Amino acid sequence: MDFDLKEWISRIKSLKDIPRFIAFEGIEGSGKTTQAKLLGSFLKKCGFNVKVVRDPGFTPLGEKIRKILKSEVNIDSVSELFLFLAARRQLVVDVVRPALRKGIVVITDRFTNSTLAYQGRGRGLMPETLPMLCYIATGGVEPELTFVLDIDPEKGLQRAKKRSESEKSKEDRFEAQDIQFHRRIREFYAELAENSENVFIIDSSQDIYSVFADVVSKLYEFSKEKF
Ligand code: TMP
Repeated sequence: MDFDLKEWISRIKSLKDIPRFIAFEGIEGSGKTTQAKLLGSFLKKCGFNVKVVRDPGFTPLGEKIRKILKSEVNIDSVSELFLFLAARRQLVVDVVRPALRKGIVVITDRFTNSTLAYQGRGRGLMPETLPMLCYIATGGVEPELTFVLDIDPEKGLQRAKKRSESEKSKEDRFEAQDIQFHRRIREFYAELAENSENVFIIDSSQDIYSVFADVVSKLYEFSKEKF
């Protein structure tokens, strides 16, 4: 892996601007959380004001909802959907919108595309009305750039399992879904990237710093072209 930190900082600093709202998406164990944090500290070094958030979560209400969703309680799939949307609404109103207004770069670990992937493609929930419900939750505040960290579901689930074991926590309701569920989600993300100008697949089977190098170089190319 060859990543010259100083060189990349000066390249990013040379840009007119970068997207202010950036999302990481991917299946379980794809490394989103790590990459979101790495990008956050890198952009701080480039001189930006940055907030790294997670969805569901980050706000007090969102973190409570996250706990409920991660627990084993039997939750109906439509109730599950509304819990995700409620957490996201609170995140947008309390954090994302105010931060974007101040010019802060917001990096989020998941957002609307997770709902379209997991509840839409994974659970097969309301394909026609789902985008509209998501829109009601966000008021149209959506990431300008999305990285999909792509990994084979078998490998991703193995990684997620290792993490759960080291944290001594149980498998959550999504990690416990069958492999087909995770394959459908991976397929959804692949189609999304193919059909969107601002969604990019990053090969997440590489080591952490090679993945990060790909993220930064894609951010640079995208910003140079679009901003
Ligand atoms: P994670 O943030 O640790 O990946 O856990 C969040 C889990 O919730 C993950 O399994 C994906 C799932 N999820 C949905 O099913 N729908 C959503 O809208 C979001 C944001 C997450």
